Amino acid sequence: MWMLYGAYGHTGRRIAEEAAARGLRPVLAGRNAAAIEPLAQRLGCPCRVFSIDSAAQIAGNLGGIEAVLHCAGPFRTTGVPMMDACLRAKVHYLDITGEIDVIEAAAERHNQGIQTGVTLLPSVGFDTVPSDCLAAMLAARLPAATQLQLAFATFSRIGPGTARTMVGRMAEGGRVRVSGRIVKVPFAWKTMTVPFHSGPQQAVSIPWGDVAAAWHSTKIPNIEVYAATDPKQIATLRRTRFLFPLLRVPLVRTPLGLLIQRKLMRRSAADGADAGSSLWGRVCDGQKQSVEATLETVESYRLTVLTALAAVEKVTAGETPPGFLTPSLALGREFILSLPDTQIYWQ
Ligand SMILES: NC(=O)c1ccc[n+]([C@@H]2O[C@H](COP(=O)([O-])OP(=O)(O)OC[C@H]3O[C@@H](n4cnc5c(N)ncnc54)[C@H](OP(=O)(O)O)[C@@H]3O)[C@@H](O)[C@H]2O)c1
Repeated sequence: MWMLYGAYGHTGRRIAEEAAARGLRPVLAGRNAAAIEPLAQRLGCPCRVFSIDSAAQIAGNLGGIEAVLHCAGPFRTTGVPMMDACLRAKVHYLDITGEIDVIEAAAERHNQGIQTGVTLLPSVGFDTVPSDCLAAMLAARLPAATQLQLAFATFSRIGPGTARTMVGRMAEGGRVRVSGRIVKVPFAWKTMTVPFHSGPQQAVSIPWGDVAAAWHSTKIPNIEVYAATDPKQIATLRRTRFLFPLLRVPLVRTPLGLLIQRKLMRRSAADGADAGSSLWGRVCDGQKQSVEATLETVESYRLTVLTALAAVEKVTAGETPPGFLTPSLALGREFILSLPDTQIYWQ
């Protein structure tokens, strides 16, 4: 029996609905009884209501549970208590974070996972399953690679939690990996023109989950991740980024954060074809050898539903070793190619 925590959120609900449509009966959980109980009733699933303020409190609510798929983000506040509760209760942990610190927190608990027989598998959504698989496929073709660049373009209407998480990332600034270490850089630090399958697009560097995950998957020491954005927005981001650290100040965070969240959601709804997602990646070895590929796949929230459920299936089938894993290590680097409407194009 597995648990979906955060089941009534924008993303959690989609995963719960797909699970129920497949005849699965996860325990749906969240902190608000008025939201969780009607959902569980509609989908014919059991439910549990509890808050996740401390690991001890969570662990007391995991009786009989084999694995938790944690969907209640931003994970920078909810991830570690849930991970520690899972280790305490000997329950496998999965989440849909894309936050670098949360992936690193799971990696730091690798030995505890091995000692307790618990698999720690964060970031099983759009961020980072397709990009992590792409990184691993590229690395397999150029094992001497020392540099990895990844980029993505999505056209999805983003949910409130995603917008809130994006504001948190802006507050923390940019991050890249240099010589194996995660290094702080300004937000929107670099730009490049990315040759996606559908044509070139401007993109800007962002602190995406692969800065953490791809290193664990490939051991490539230098990693940058870019998001396709229109040039006007890149200029705005660069002009205003000196204000982003203010988002860490509680009195500013609420009004300014809400303003940016609303803007991000409005903007994504206006873009909003909810069309497929495009990825690109390149590895280089510093000796003029490089390998490059593009990947076309499904819309990012749909992808998150499919990949999260595939990861839960793999973990609950006992097919993953204990300890920390990235998506490509857990599911296999070519896993992404098994999704519908997904195709890789080697350059
Ligand atoms: N990896 C990916 O590609 C990917 C894809 C989709 C989403 N995400 C991430 O997943 C997270 C959720 O996104 P969403 O769009 O589904 O957000 P959402 O609609 O706001 O849902 C968030 C859920 O988390 C719960 N929650 C938040 N903080 C909590 C806390 N401290 N304790 C207990 N429950 C808490 C909320 O419950 P209440 O309503 O009671 O606050 C709600 O059920 C975000 O961090 C987002 O970035 C990642």
